[in-house]
Amino acid sequence: MPIRVTVGAETQPGERRVALVPEVIARMSQQGFDIQVAKSAGAGANLADSDFVAAGAVIVPGSETMFNGTDIIVRVQAPTVEEISRFPEGVVLIGLLQPHRHPDVVKALQARRITSFSMELLPRISRAQSMDVLSSQATVAGYQAALIGARLSPRFFPMLTTAAGTIRPAKVLVLGAGVAGLQAIATARRLGAIVEAYDVRAAAAEQVESLGAKFLKIDVKAEAEGGYARELTDEEKQLQQTMLANAIKAADVVITTAQIPGRPAPKMISAEMVAGMKAGAVIVDLAAETGGNCELTRCGETVAEGGVTICGPRDIASDMSVHASDMYARNLQRFMELMKGEDGALKLDWEDEIIAGTVLTHDGEIRHPATRELLEGAAA
Ligand code: NAI
Repeated sequence: MPIRVTVGAETQPGERRVALVPEVIARMSQQGFDIQVAKSAGAGANLADSDFVAAGAVIVPGSETMFNGTDIIVRVQAPTVEEISRFPEGVVLIGLLQPHRHPDVVKALQARRITSFSMELLPRISRAQSMDVLSSQATVAGYQAALIGARLSPRFFPMLTTAAGTIRPAKVLVLGAGVAGLQAIATARRLGAIVEAYDVRAAAAEQVESLGAKFLKIDVKAEAEGGYARELTDEEKQLQQTMLANAIKAADVVITTAQIPGRPAPKMISAEMVAGMKAGAVIVDLAAETGGNCELTRCGETVAEGGVTICGPRDIASDMSVHASDMYARNLQRFMELMKGEDGALKLDWEDEIIAGTVLTHDGEIRHPATRELLEGAAA
């Protein structure tokens, strides 16, 4: 029996991406997957039902029966508790489920014995790079952040030599040089800005410099396990703030991307620092959804604070729904390839560290330790 995959329609407000796109569906059909797509699921990414049909998918109306015979349901964001009640018991669900934000969803998945895989949990090992949804969506976010900064700034990014005189290039400061930060640097550089960047991970320096930006050296190193950052001590935070204050003062646009997995985003720009910025300066805070890197950021809003514009975008990848969906779909295809047994039927290999590391719930249990601790307490 081939694996039947159902692409669900997204239900979270503002979500415009779709979990699989026609190009990827055509490839998966050739590999022996049997794909069905909920009616109008691609509308937010400019994809018509006929595009999916041409790629070999079957369109199903959003009704009680749409999941009949389904092995895997794919989504971008978490389904609602009500939707989960209509999922067949024991089905596989794959998506960016954000378990820490949706404890009720996790409980519903557990109760319905759904085998759910939360793509944010994917181990960051070389073999999993092609499946890394966080990286692909962060690439979109970083690119968008540079464009938002350029649009909100009352200054040109490039140096211009014109009959009306010479315009100096804008100074862009990028805080946090992970996947999103590096893409923001590359994009701001392409627009001609002078770019400086900072990250607590020393390894980021080389990558920043290879993009033609200057790395700000501050004597705090916080490289933790798995290539991620750890939280800084109070003393380290103080040192970092003092050192960064000057760079922030001089910047026309500050793009912040600093995150610590499973924790609120580190606060790097205080209200006082904002007050010291140039008139017309812009902050684009990509960490808005996890609390913001700037004290004054409001998630989903653009606010003016004494001449400084602070933008805290929400669901930024959704604004580039076409390419964000393309990249997401390719990541999911590679992930689902791991689930295909030799006879073409669904087979979950729990010995595979990618499968075992990404699972959230299975067989009525919460398998992800941090989520289990959050929902059931440390002793569970
Ligand atoms: P992220 O989104 O968790 O964080 C963004 C950046 O913020 C990170 O570079 C982090 O070091 C930095 N940061 C955190 N606290 C900070 C602070 N107080 N001040 C300044 N910067 C701070 O990270 P992302 O972009 O998802 O990836 C981080 C790293 O993980 C990558 O650069 C890479 O080394 C590794 N990685 C490995 C992959 C693989 O092997 N499959 C795939 C993607 C990333």
